[in-house]
Amino acid sequence: MNYKEIIVNRGSPLGGIIIKPMQPEHAEQLEALQRFVFPNLAEEELLHAEQYKKHVEIFPEGQFVALDGDKVIGATSSTRYHFDINNQEHHTFYEIMGGGWFTTHDPNGDWLYGMDVSVHPDYRGKGIARALYRARHYTCKILGLKGQMTVGMLNGYFAVKDNMGIEEYYEKVKNHELFDPTVSVQEKIGFEIVGLMKDYLNDVTCGNAGAVIVMPLSPKGGQ
Ligand SMILES: CC(C)(COP(=O)(O)OP(=O)(O)OC[C@H]1O[C@@H](n2cnc3c(N)ncnc32)[C@H](O)[C@@H]1OP(=O)(O)O)[C@@H](O)C(=O)NCCC(=O)NCCS
Repeated sequence: MNYKEIIVNRGSPLGGIIIKPMQPEHAEQLEALQRFVFPNLAEEELLHAEQYKKHVEIFPEGQFVALDGDKVIGATSSTRYHFDINNQEHHTFYEIMGGGWFTTHDPNGDWLYGMDVSVHPDYRGKGIARALYRARHYTCKILGLKGQMTVGMLNGYFAVKDNMGIEEYYEKVKNHELFDPTVSVQEKIGFEIVGLMKDYLNDVTCGNAGAVIVMPLSPKGGQ
């Protein structure tokens, strides 16, 4: 069974929302969703329609959409990447996504690097992000990868930025003293926080930083 059959045949536990492999015809809607979901992200860090078409060409197993009928209401994009959890290399979001074109995709990479997960605000809290991460997990299984990792945006930082630095905020999120609307949700879904990536992207909301998070295939990350 290939990844397309597994995802499509899982049925629709999300009130009519279906997770499917991304197709070129979703590209325009995907760009619009990006602009809506990430209003503070710099233009060069947003994904554009032509780039989505390229992702599907380069690595179709790593790209998924959540559909309400024909309407794209969620999506995830990813590449393959060589990752050493004990020796994490600094990079920016712009660098790791090859300026949005995923030219950084390594066909032999041993981890799935999640570049993006977005769910339209009207559809949040219904388990759609969880389902998108699950789709990525199946891809890891099918391709024999070690698991999925990403750098989650510390989006709750803006609210407390006058009281603490990003390092302190990161530690408090990691120690569960503060709940971050993105990284803590990702933790709930099954990710583990393993590092702070400063100067990752240009977004004041998250103090330009993200948390490196991993979901190994096994034994903890099995879904
Ligand atoms: C983060 C995001 C993808 C979550 O999408 P979602 O579809 O609402 O998430 P889900 O419904 O699958 O929720 C997964 C879990 O997190 C919980 N959760 C979701 N949002 C939450 C919040 N704001 N506060 C507390 N818990 C939350 C859910 O209850 C669920 O847990 P449960 O199954 O134990 O009840 C979505 O809010 C989003 O698109 N945010 C903006 C873009 C972004 O930050 N993307 C990540 C970039 S790194």
